[in-house]
Amino acid sequence: MSKPVSKPVNKPARKLAAAALLMGAATAHAQKYEGLADTPQMGWNSWNKFACDISEQLIRDTADAMVKNGMRDAGYTYLNIDDCWHGQRDANGNIQADPERFPSGIKALADYVHARGLKLGIYSDAGAKTCGGRPGSRGYEYQDARTYAAWGVDYLKYDWCETKGLNSEGAYTTMRDALRAAGRPILFSICEWGDTKPWDWARDVGHSWRTTGDITACWDCELSHGSWSSFGVLKIMDKTAALRKYAGPGHWNDMDMLEVGNGLTPDEERAHFSIWAMMASPLISGNDLRSMSPTTLKILTNRDVIAINQDKLGVQALRRMAQGDLEMWIKPLADGGWGVLFLNRGERTIDYRHDWQKYPLADDISKHEADLKKKTFRWSELWQGRGGDTSKALDVKLAPHSAMMLRLKAP
Ligand code: GLA
Repeated sequence: MSKPVSKPVNKPARKLAAAALLMGAATAHAQKYEGLADTPQMGWNSWNKFACDISEQLIRDTADAMVKNGMRDAGYTYLNIDDCWHGQRDANGNIQADPERFPSGIKALADYVHARGLKLGIYSDAGAKTCGGRPGSRGYEYQDARTYAAWGVDYLKYDWCETKGLNSEGAYTTMRDALRAAGRPILFSICEWGDTKPWDWARDVGHSWRTTGDITACWDCELSHGSWSSFGVLKIMDKTAALRKYAGPGHWNDMDMLEVGNGLTPDEERAHFSIWAMMASPLISGNDLRSMSPTTLKILTNRDVIAINQDKLGVQALRRMAQGDLEMWIKPLADGGWGVLFLNRGERTIDYRHDWQKYPLADDISKHEADLKKKTFRWSELWQGRGGDTSKALDVKLAPHSAMMLRLKAP
């Protein structure tokens, strides 16, 4: 047996080798793309309204609607295709779109969407199959990430069906690294329903993580589907309230797609939208944008409410006061002001006089506070347009299942 001939390694070469090792280590622990979700992402997703009944025509029409109805200009940037866009893998393992529903392919759709100033999102799953039974990415993570990048995809929602035996942190980190290696900035939206406490491990893995099981269009219900449940607006709010310290720029608690326009009453829709805005959740509409009522459109495009959600400070609201069905939530803002929400959870109208001085605005997490005995803030009401200041008590009249939302401006 002949010995392999190796030259004695000189010192500079040794240094180079050490640097290469370090670089190798850096690649092994890739970073997520920063700067993609400094404020909560906004967009549309096909699932809540259309489930598997999707097609390239629907996506194109939705893109056109978002431009025409002002949603794009109000900040809804991502147009996200959820489950069931998939066909089979080809002989080389490359994932393909369903040839009947997406005959032009995803690249053509991405081009269409980009030409309208929007971004395209897609969906996959960490397991062998998606929740809708389509091919998942398990074992194909790097290949799928390269395909999405080549198609011009900008957003990946990554689900958690068929994952028995998988470690969630490991599986999501693999996909994060795969996206990084593919070289295109793709927002990574983690969807494992809060099952394995992603708030504990996902800050550097994804840009947002779902905190609960799926939303359903009701105020406070829990619907059992056998092995899983879906939840109404208040259930998701209550579950996510305790997680506020984990949210911040680049890493948000995702309270799931909006159900505005999917059967709630107008009061409930305004309250649902206000809560998601206050809690700095991603705002991903989930209704039919081609045919919604003027009321629903007005809610989704309320720029003052959106501005509270998109505030640069990036703090999730806290529940400051709760008395029976009445709650007051507060959210400190970058300009020294506050978002304030009064909520009626219950079935009876609430008539209440709020004494600002009794409830100093204080947040022990962001360390923002405002003593309303010493300072007077001006306020504007963001749904009705009323105005006033905190020197006088505020009359709060709330119909059942409704909310009143204010922005307080620092003096
Ligand atoms: C899961 C997700 C939903 C949706 C469906 C698609 O239930 O939580 O948001 O993506 O899968 O099958």
